[in-house]
Parts: sequence; structure tokens; C-alpha cells
Amino acid sequence: MPIDRHFDNCMKTYFRILAFARPIEKFAIPYFFFSILGTLFGLANFTLLIPLLDVLFNNVSSEKLRYLLSEPTFGVNLYYAKELFYYYFAWIIVKFGKLAALFFVCAIIIFSVLVGNIFNYFAIRVLEYMRAHTIKRVREAIFKRTVSLDIGYFTNTRKGDIISRTTSDVYELEHTISNSLSLFFKEPISLLGFFIVLFSISTSLTLFTLIMLPFSAFIIASISRALRRQANLSQESLGSIVSILDETIGGLRVIKGFNAIGYIEQKFVEENNRYAGLMRAMARTRELASPISEFLGVMVLTVIMLYGGSMVLDKSSGLSASAFVAYIILFSQVLRPAKAMSVSFSNMQRGISAGKRIFQILDTIPEILEKPGAQPLPGFKQSIEFKEVSFSYGQEPVLKNISFNIQKGKTVALVGPSGSGKSTIADLIPRFYDVKSGSILIDGVDIRDCTLSSLNSLMGIVTQEPILFNDTIFNNIAFAVQEATQEDVERAAKIANAHEFILQTEKGYDTIIGDRGSKLSGGQRQRLSIARAVLKNPPILILDEATSALDTEKEKLVQEALNNLMQNRTALIIAHRLSTIQHADEILVIQNGEIVERGNHESLLLNDKGLYKRLNAMQAL
Ligand SMILES: Nc1ncnc2c1ncn2[C@@H]1O[C@H](COP(=O)(O)OP(=O)(O)OP(=O)(O)O)[C@@H](O)[C@H]1O
Ligand SMILES: [Mg+2]
Repeated sequence: MPIDRHFDNCMKTYFRILAFARPIEKFAIPYFFFSILGTLFGLANFTLLIPLLDVLFNNVSSEKLRYLLSEPTFGVNLYYAKELFYYYFAWIIVKFGKLAALFFVCAIIIFSVLVGNIFNYFAIRVLEYMRAHTIKRVREAIFKRTVSLDIGYFTNTRKGDIISRTTSDVYELEHTISNSLSLFFKEPISLLGFFIVLFSISTSLTLFTLIMLPFSAFIIASISRALRRQANLSQESLGSIVSILDETIGGLRVIKGFNAIGYIEQKFVEENNRYAGLMRAMARTRELASPISEFLGVMVLTVIMLYGGSMVLDKSSGLSASAFVAYIILFSQVLRPAKAMSVSFSNMQRGISAGKRIFQILDTIPEILEKPGAQPLPGFKQSIEFKEVSFSYGQEPVLKNISFNIQKGKTVALVGPSGSGKSTIADLIPRFYDVKSGSILIDGVDIRDCTLSSLNSLMGIVTQEPILFNDTIFNNIAFAVQEATQEDVERAAKIANAHEFILQTEKGYDTIIGDRGSKLSGGQRQRLSIARAVLKNPPILILDEATSALDTEKEKLVQEALNNLMQNRTALIIAHRLSTIQHADEILVIQNGEIVERGNHESLLLNDKGLYKRLNAMQAL
């Protein structure tokens, strides 16, 4: 990429990052103010070295004292402050002697160090506030975007990648924000301050030192370019590590059961080695910056000592020895903001790369979007209709030309071999995915024309794998209904046949069920997710294998409860056990993404060669 385009790009990213700090003036203005004051007092300390050295070197002649003893005219500026200081300084020397003057200078140094540091403290505090504020908003934005993305996005993108972006990329970003303010405000101010003082001590010496700066800047810039490239690679690698870790912990049971620890360890070790290699490469480059700039700094300093020292020796130059010593001390202080600026600059580069990765997520447009001007569905009155629906996840067609109709209050069941596309059909109704061709209509309205929230408010979903959160049983059931009372929740649990086992848990409804419900049995998990759908009390129910993990007796109870619940309700049920769907109004037999048979239980059994009859016969065994 050409350098200026790249630079443009970086600046754009940078300003987008800063936009998260809004209202930025709330932070930038006080920061600016405190920084200037902090810097001024900091500078004052070093300038005070000159009179101090003058006294020690016996450099204060009586003529000079007489000159200093005329009271300065008042004004609000630095010059007046300096004159005033010298006035009292001279006055103390005359009245109390040199030792007292020494005390006087030291007292002022202590005072200005104290005040300067108080201001610095406030400056940094403002900066930290801004950092916390910005990071909070960035994380929030990533989280909101993650939630709004369609389900298909996550099957393509690794979970670990998103986790590492919300954690370590955001962490990298933190430094960019605070660093950039000190890069743009504080350090330039102190550099400027230092140079003003340096120029006022000796113009020619300062001009001489300035020549050496661009040379150092060039070296630092090339180091940070290399760092940026490596930082990108290392973040990707970290994402993979998080993914592996997540899969390992989630699948530990299988990993142990299949004796696959070696395999997963191998995978982890490989990625971890790659990461370590990248860290080493980064360290090699990054740690080069400090010794190089140190060396350059000392080199410059030595040249100044030679040049300035010769000026002092040559009495005609007007540079006194004490001014020169102060000059060198001041100059060594110039290196600090200069160094801080180069560190900030390289951190900022890293932050900008992290920012780019974060914006990749923030800029992802969900595939499932509400149309502009989408209308809310007023409710559910007549039917759900699949009209020649085809669908595929990738190239292979998964659903072909599916057409059927669920009238309000009726139950339609899907049966068929594993992988035939039943769950996929169910996923299309709440728009987890969009159809590739054809359409799905609710009361004659294409579901792509209505608002997502009104669509989802119509349905309760019990997924094939119960989805639970690490929270109390109560909250897992009441999850979608914020105003649910204890009674409501218990009633739902009773209908789902979960009440009894809930009471037997340690804290009843307040029991925390572990990550994804890991402290419960499969059947218990399923009943909780049924209770959740029961409580929501939606007009449309979508049940995917809702009864598969219950024993026969429980299954019957749940089935009864669901039958009650399904009265006046519209349901799409997917079940492998044909006994549970005998009473469905219509049964669709799905095979390879197509409807191969349809009818009710009795009529389907009449077809001797039919798949339904075969499936039924197999289950009877
Ligand atoms: N997220 C996905 N990405 C790609 N392919 C998928 C995805 N989900 C399912 N498939 C494929 O789509 C086909 C239909 O899957 P689906 O889950 O609908 O089957 P099913 O009828 O519900 O099976 P089961 O009875 O085992 O639950 C399968 O071949 C499956 O491999
Ligand atoms: Mg399925």
C-alpha cells in the first residue's frame, strides 16, 4: 500500500477510535490545562538550578546584585515570575547571606515539584477516566454487534477470534487512547517548554542539537513498522489458542473418553509454539527501540558537551559554566518526552492495528436484516405458509421446494432420517437463516417484511440441544419474561414436569446450574427449556426433539402437558419417536431435504411402501 494511503487509513481508524471517547472535550480540556501547569512547574525546577549553581560557584558579583535589587514591574507572565524570583533571591543574599539563599532556592524547588506533581496527577487521572469510558463503550459496541449478527456468521467465524478481539485487542486499544493524548498534547508541550528554555540559554547550541533529531526519528519509525506487522499475526494466533481452549473445556468429557488428550495437546502445543515464536520476534524488534534511542541520545549529549564545553572555555561566547551545566541537565530531560513520544507512537501503531481488527467486527453487516420500513406483525391470526422454499448452507442444497401450511391452532410434525433437514426447516421460521428461494408467510405477510422483534415475539422455541445459561433455575425459565413472578415460573415448571426435580436440587429455584446447565441431566435440561417456552406462552411453538431425552413415563407426562399447551396454539414439532406425534394434524416425512410423504398418522400407515411405515415398523421393534 502506498505510504500516504496507508497513513490516511490509519488516521481514519484513529479518529473512529477517538469517537468512542465522546464527549472528548470533557477529558481533553482539563487534561490540556493540567498538563500545561504540570509542565511549567516541572520546568521551573530545572531553571532554578542556574541560580543555585551561581551561588555555589561564587558567581554572583555585587554589581549583579545591585541590578537585581530593583523591584520588577508587575505583569502576569513568566518573565515577571522570573524577575520576582531574582529580586527576592538577591535580597536574601544581601540580608541573610548565601546559605539562606540556598535554603530559599531549595524551598522553592520543593514547592514547585509538589505543585507540578499534583497537576500531573490530575492530568493522568483525567486520562485514565477517559480510557475507562472509551473502553467500556468499545466493548459494549462489540457485544451489541455480536448479538445482532446472524447465526450463520458464527459457524464461519471462529468463536475464539471474537473473544480475543473483545479482550486483548480492546486491551491494546486502551493504550492507544491515553498514549495518543500524551503524544499529541502533553509531550509536545513539554518539548516546546524545554526548547524555549534551551533557546533562551543558548541559541546556537540548541540549533546545533536540532540537526540531529530527524535522524533518530527515522530509525524509530522503521522499528514500529515491523512491530505492526507482527502484532497482527500474534493476535490471530491468540484467537486460535482461545478457540482450542474453549473447545477443550467444552468437550473435555469426549476428549478424555476417547483418549484424545494427546491429539488436542498436540494441537494446542503447535499453536502455542507459533505464538511464542511471534512473541520472540516482536520482542526482538521492540526491545531494540530502547537501546538504540538510548545510544543515540548519549551520542547527541556527548556532541553537545564537546561543542558547548568549548563555548564555555572560550569566554567570549557568553555561556557561563553554571548555565551550561543546567543546559546539559535540561537537555537530558528533553530525551524523556522525546522517548515517551516514540514509545507512544509505536503503541499507537499497535492500537490502530487492534482498532482495525475491532472495526472488522463492528463493520460486519448481519445477513439477516430488517428491511427499512419493516412493519410489526400485529399478531398471529391464520397460518404459517412455506411456499416452494429452497435452502442451502453452502453449495449443497439442503431443502428443495418445500411447501406446506400450518393453520392456526393445528400441529404439524416433521419426521425423517437424521440429516434430512428437519431442524433446518424449523430454523427458517424465526429467521435464523433466510430462504434461498421461495418464501415463508405468516398471515400472508413475508417474514422478511416484518420487524424481527415482532416475529420473534410470536414464537417459543425449544431447540434440539437445550440452551441454558450459568444462572439460577428461576432466571433460566423466566429468561424471556422479565416480569414473571415465582408463581408463574412454578406453574410453567409444573407443566413442563420440572417442578419436582427442581425442588430436589440444593437451593430449589435459586440453584445455579453451571456452565450451559452442566450440573443437570440431559432430560432435566430439556424440561427447563420446555418450561421456558411454556412461560413465554407464545401463539406459535417450535419444538425440536423436545421429548427425546425423557424416559417413557416422563415423556408421556410432558406429552400430555404439551398437548394441553398446544390447544389453541400452533405448533411445529420435530420428533424421532413417532409415538409422540400420532395426534398431529399433519405429518410431513422429510428425506434429503424434500417432502416425500404427507398426511396424518393413519393415512400414512396405509402406504405399505412408504418411508413412514418403515420408520414406524422399525420403532415398534
Ligand atoms: N450450520 C450448518 N452449516 C452447514 N451445514 C449444515 C449446518 N447445519 C446443518 N447442516 C447440514 O444440513 C443438513 C440438514 O441438517 P438438519 O440439522 O436440518 O438435519 P435434521 O433433519 O434436523 O437431523 P437430525 O434428525 O439428526 O436432527 C445436514 O446434512 C447437515 O449436515
Ligand atoms: Mg435436527
